[in-house]
Amino acid sequence: MAWWETLFDDRYLRLWGPLASPEATEQQVEGIIAYLRLEPGASILDLACGYGRIAIPLAQRGFRVTGLDLSETLLGQARANGAQAGVRVEWHQGDMREVPWVEAFDAVVNIFSSFGYFADEEENLRVLEGVARALKPGGRFLIDVINRDWRVRQPLQRYWFEAGDLLVLSDPWLDPVEGRAGETWRWLEGGQWQSLEFDVRIYTATELKALIEAAGLRWVTAYGGWAGEDFGPQSRRLIALAEKPK
Ligand SMILES: C[S@@+](CC[C@H](N)C(=O)[O-])C[C@H]1O[C@@H](n2cnc3c(N)ncnc32)[C@H](O)[C@@H]1O
Repeated sequence: MAWWETLFDDRYLRLWGPLASPEATEQQVEGIIAYLRLEPGASILDLACGYGRIAIPLAQRGFRVTGLDLSETLLGQARANGAQAGVRVEWHQGDMREVPWVEAFDAVVNIFSSFGYFADEEENLRVLEGVARALKPGGRFLIDVINRDWRVRQPLQRYWFEAGDLLVLSDPWLDPVEGRAGETWRWLEGGQWQSLEFDVRIYTATELKALIEAAGLRWVTAYGGWAGEDFGPQSRRLIALAEKPK
């Protein structure tokens, strides 16, 4: 099985949950609304919505939100979180390569490095083709991934970080020919070593723009952060805005 079919379970909730602080999430949600210039009540698809971290605050602000994700575990958490927040979100279990909607949304978002998972680039393109299909003419797409120009200049050194009460050891790697990067994480739990691995395609803005255009969308701009920062080689994030031609 591919790593993305198995990683997004309770381990993801425990290890990544603490990394996405409420303050960071709030800033991302405000950025999404500002960059997409959403009208009140607009319909939004959160593609690879996870446990509803972004979809739920968007619904709380009055948008009509649909979330699609592959992971039953994360969708279960999303349903519970949505019910607790008292909001309605349409949750769908499915694969992001098979987006089932046609001209249904004013906006589609793909946030927090939820793209580039497939080893075959045609499959990554298929995701964007689904986005293009699902958007209404004139609808907008916002995608948030790591900036390859930034990533290649980071040292490939082993590092430790804390996730809640866990201490995680990470070994990062990068393949500059395939344009992929990944990490192996190891941590001690109950006296046993646990581990997981992930690897994703990392894109320069030039490469992401070409893929977005190949899917039939029009590139609008790129931001380097959630508060209107200009995009540049020093930007850790690549937040790209595209539009479906009318
Ligand atoms: C890094 S998480 C980000 C989740 C969410 N966008 C956020 O910002 O919190 C990536 C998400 O992609 C989902 N995912 C992985 N492979 C998928 C696939 N083939 N189709 C749909 N979702 C997938 C995972 O289950 C996970 O929820």
